[in-house]
Amino acid sequence: MASASPRHVVFLLVFCAVAVCRAQPPRQRLPVESYSYVSFQRGDPSVSSLLFRGDAGINNGALQVTPDSRNLNNFLSNKSGSVLLPHPFALWRRLDGAGERPAASGNGTTGGDQGQRVTVVSFNSTFSMNVFYDNESRPGEGLTFVVAPSTDGPPPGSHGGFLGLTNATMEASPAMNRFVAVEFDTFRQPGGYDPDDNHVGLDIGTVVSNKTAPLAGLNITIATNGTAPANYTVWIEYNGAARRIAVYMGIRGKPKPASPVLASPLDLSKHVPEQAYLGFTASTGVSFELNCILDWSLTIETFPADKKSKGWVVLVAVVVPVAAIAVAAAAFFLARMLRARRSMDRRRQERLEHTLTNLPGMPKEFAYEKLRKATKNFDDRLRLGRGGYGMVYKGVLPADDGRPEATTEVAVKMFTRDDAKCVDDFVKEVDIINRLRHRNIVPLIGWCYKKGQLLLVYEYMPNGSLDQHLFRRGVHEQRPVLSWESRYAIVADVAAGLHYVHHEYGPMVLHRDIKASNVLLDASFRARLGDFGLARVLDLDRNSFTDLGVAGTRGYIAPEYSVGHKATRQTDVFAFGVLVLEVVTGRYALLGDPACPLLSDWVWRMHGRGALLGAVDQSLGTDGFDAGDATRLLLLGLACSNPNPGDRPTMLEVLQILSRSAPPPEVPQFKPSFVWPPEGGAHYDLIDIDAITSGSLAGASSAASARATQDTASGGFPPPTAPNSADDYFPALSSGR
Ligand SMILES: *[C@@H]1O[C@H](CO)[C@@H](O)[C@H](O)[C@H]1NC(C)=O
Ligand SMILES: *[C@@H]1O[C@H](CO)[C@@H](O)[C@H](O)[C@H]1NC(C)=O
Ligand SMILES: *[C@@H]1O[C@H](CO)[C@@H](O)[C@H](O)[C@H]1NC(C)=O
Ligand SMILES: *[C@@H]1O[C@H](CO)[C@@H](O)[C@H](O)[C@H]1NC(C)=O
Ligand SMILES: *[C@@H]1O[C@H](CO)[C@@H](O)[C@H](O)[C@H]1NC(C)=O
Ligand SMILES: *[C@@H]1O[C@H](CO)[C@@H](O)[C@H](O)[C@H]1NC(C)=O
Ligand SMILES: *[C@@H]1O[C@H](CO)[C@@H](O)[C@H](O)[C@H]1NC(C)=O
Ligand SMILES: *[C@@H]1O[C@H](CO)[C@@H](O)[C@H](O)[C@H]1NC(C)=O
Ligand SMILES: *[C@@H]1O[C@H](CO)[C@@H](O)[C@H](O)[C@H]1NC(C)=O
Repeated sequence: MASASPRHVVFLLVFCAVAVCRAQPPRQRLPVESYSYVSFQRGDPSVSSLLFRGDAGINNGALQVTPDSRNLNNFLSNKSGSVLLPHPFALWRRLDGAGERPAASGNGTTGGDQGQRVTVVSFNSTFSMNVFYDNESRPGEGLTFVVAPSTDGPPPGSHGGFLGLTNATMEASPAMNRFVAVEFDTFRQPGGYDPDDNHVGLDIGTVVSNKTAPLAGLNITIATNGTAPANYTVWIEYNGAARRIAVYMGIRGKPKPASPVLASPLDLSKHVPEQAYLGFTASTGVSFELNCILDWSLTIETFPADKKSKGWVVLVAVVVPVAAIAVAAAAFFLARMLRARRSMDRRRQERLEHTLTNLPGMPKEFAYEKLRKATKNFDDRLRLGRGGYGMVYKGVLPADDGRPEATTEVAVKMFTRDDAKCVDDFVKEVDIINRLRHRNIVPLIGWCYKKGQLLLVYEYMPNGSLDQHLFRRGVHEQRPVLSWESRYAIVADVAAGLHYVHHEYGPMVLHRDIKASNVLLDASFRARLGDFGLARVLDLDRNSFTDLGVAGTRGYIAPEYSVGHKATRQTDVFAFGVLVLEVVTGRYALLGDPACPLLSDWVWRMHGRGALLGAVDQSLGTDGFDAGDATRLLLLGLACSNPNPGDRPTMLEVLQILSRSAPPPEVPQFKPSFVWPPEGGAHYDLIDIDAITSGSLAGASSAASARATQDTASGGFPPPTAPNSADDYFPALSSGR
């Protein structure tokens, strides 16, 4: 602080000078903030922190301000939604102008009520939209860019002609509705106030536009169908100094047209609160359309941080000598710094809460007290495991109706570190797991956030993790040997879960840390995949994820991944293969034998000698044992752990082999040598590498790239710990990091 204060004094003096000379105020250039979304990807924290209200969501890299599921027509009718940036903007500000006459010619500061002068910020909002309707129906109702007074979202009954802005009640008193919106209307209302079904309008507190501009003459049709598809870009320029709004519109990809489609005087300070939110609303009615926002950038002027300080600043400048100013300045900036820090903490918490409460179908939020009670104040004796992010505790939640027999057992994963990375990891895991629904995936029940403590609540898996049953070390020594039947079923379950995330689920998810300690067993010994802490969601058009380092656990990491740092479905299949070998042989992936370090090497040797069945776990009795199935699993394990990704089966083939509808795979007598770069099979294209390196250039994706770098900075190649350590219990936390 001491070293910084001289600069602050200078700044303060300049500030004083400005304040003293404000009898003739030139309009200061206000600093400009900008926001940019080149697309809207689900996993991106800057996207998931947007406020989704009503029926809004994200899909296909776009904001779907009303739903976009085309399967259910009823689902598309009578909807309204809104998406807002998560924090308010100071759009105007009163200057204390007591005694002064308002400047005659305005220029940003014009006379207001009671001799008060008002400064209004300028902003530019540029976005692209796609309003698609089925070519067999009529489109409806419309989309707006909104300056909203609150984060409440669309009021009840705001579907149809109300565009997610108002409802029948609110329309009666437009002056009470403190919003301004630019509407893109695709439906002509029966009231007769719409010129047509394809116009832009300026809505001030009501959907009955203050001004409208038909688009037909301009060769623009907002709503387009399969026969005439089009995306449009809209430029909304608001000049706060001149109190004017101008709306330009043109085909996406073309330059901004020379003249606006709509221009109008507009004094935002008369119609919206000082602090307001920016975003979009849309609605559908009996007829419907998809209201998509494809990209968005916003530049907006901001007021310098504190206006109240001015009064005493003048006093200080006049009365107190320079030394005193230095002290005052120090105190002033210290206070500001503390305030800034506090507000940063608060913003982070708010961002997290917004993110979590806005995840579609987000499970329940738990009160911290409730979880503390459930885990007996996080009693060590209830600890199920420990890892890089924190601890996992067993807990018992009381039933809502208090019946003692209806309690729920849960596993509570507590993240102990409170830094940005941890919050991002948390959000990432919640978002991924929350959207996966499959009987072979551990279900997430809820979450809790309190004072930097992040907690995830999972269904409790009474039979622990697979490694405890397979390797029976330490406290798990007493566990009975897993029967052959359950081993086969467990492999089939894991395969089904993995097939789901690889092939059945919308955006592909790579687990990246398949291993025995991440396979959990429920009461009936059905296996479920847990710990998506390292998982990655990939868009449909991508099939690999490039890491600068390598994530995962030694022994399960495919050779091409440790060389090329590229996670693919095949790298998950490799880990799955190793897991299958562990299940059948009852041995660790790493044998701890320098001459033969890898389990797969050892099994391959047995195979080469024609003694494959010699690899089967000796502690398995003959009870229920099936030599044919054992051979099938061992060959499958070898095929999956083939060093060359192109030769590994896909999860679909794996399922067929496991269901015995396909023969066991052909496996060469000797372990093939690893070929680099691989031929065929895995897709190694430059796109993925580009995506990482260019991320920092494209504003919106820089967050994603920062995350990738962070992960690897601390991750890198995991230390050579023994996999499946007993500590790595469910939901296994550290994943070897
Ligand atoms: C949509 O609302 C209108 C009236 O606002 C009603 O007539 C219609 O039945 C509703 N449609 C659906 C599918 O709910
Ligand atoms: C300032 O006001 C004058 C006179 O009203 C006007 O001509 C000029 O365009 C204004 N400047 C800005 C930046 O609004
Ligand atoms: C908005 O765009 C106009 C024209 O491109 C530009 O003159 C103005 O400075 C921009 N304002 C802001 C706040 O970005
Ligand atoms: C699709 O849109 C085009 C252009 O607006 C229109 O000419 C055509 O009739 C529409 N098709 C149907 C089936 O409505
Ligand atoms: C309109 O919204 C308000 C809340 O903003 C609500 O109190 C009122 O009941 C709604 N009216 C209708 C007709 O849904
Ligand atoms: C549009 O808004 C302005 C400013 O509030 C008002 O003076 C004018 O009467 C409105 N015009 C219409 C047609 O609503
Ligand atoms: C729109 O304009 C383009 C070129 O200016 C022209 O080729 C096209 O036919 C026009 N479309 C309509 C529907 O007028
Ligand atoms: C609607 O558009 C689709 C293409 O998106 C086309 O296959 C279909 O034939 C069209 N239907 C009609 C009735 O025009
Ligand atoms: C509209 O934008 C989407 C998403 O960027 C793109 O997939 C689609 O091809 C575009 N359609 C047209 C007609 O340009």
